[in-house]
Amino acid sequence: MTFALVVAADEGGGIGKNGELPWRLPGDLAFFRRQTTATLDQKKRNAVIMGRRTWESVPDRFRPLPSRLNVVVTHDPNYDTAGKAIVATSLEDALSRARAAPDIETLFIIGGGVLYRDALAHPACQTVYLTRIEGHRDCDAFFPPLEASFVLAEASARHEENGVGYVFQRWERERFTPASASGSTTAEAARSQSTRRGPLSP
Ligand SMILES: NC(=O)c1ccc[n+]([C@@H]2O[C@H](COP(=O)([O-])OP(=O)(O)OC[C@H]3O[C@@H](n4cnc5c(N)ncnc54)[C@H](OP(=O)(O)O)[C@@H]3O)[C@@H](O)[C@H]2O)c1
Repeated sequence: MTFALVVAADEGGGIGKNGELPWRLPGDLAFFRRQTTATLDQKKRNAVIMGRRTWESVPDRFRPLPSRLNVVVTHDPNYDTAGKAIVATSLEDALSRARAAPDIETLFIIGGGVLYRDALAHPACQTVYLTRIEGHRDCDAFFPPLEASFVLAEASARHEENGVGYVFQRWERERFTPASASGSTTAEAARSQSTRRGPLSP
């Protein structure tokens, strides 16, 4: 079972500062909520997997993120989420706990910088939903550059909110499968399938 990443990063890869997002973009938050919540099968839900610091950055009244299985990754097996999330002690542990739930459709890694690094290096990482924020902000948490194996499958029109310009992008990891022998790759297949979860828009 592959998984996807969802991230908003500026042109320097900046994603956070002092445990918070460096921008206020309601359109991006709406995209995040829809992308991570929507399922093709109405009887299923998705899992959102996050690092401990990202979990703590979500105000208590908004935890857990609703209608999704919340998984928090920490080295502390006794970490207390007040029963609001599953605790996992590694990325692999998080993936297997989420996969073990019978009603999970898609696994999303939702940050932050430490967990993104691990996730991008994992062979099951297939899709990156990247909100590319124009310019450079003052950040202390970062999203690493995507390897060349990721190809841009789709991009939205430019949006602007609060003076901040941004574009929604979908990147797919190109793999050489038997289909590639006949000239098509998983990325091309993904491009032709287009957006099964709806358009890349707020
Ligand atoms: N722009 C975006 O899309 C976006 C998305 C999410 C978060 N953010 C921002 O990013 C910042 C937080 O990111 P961050 O890099 O500081 O922290 P993070 O990745 O959210 O959390 C780091 C912590 O998670 C645990 N962890 C991560 N990977 C692990 C692994 N493989 N195995 C075991 N434990 C692991 C460790 O917890 P322990 O120390 O407890 O062991 C680690 O200290 C915040 O500013 C937040 O607002 C931005």
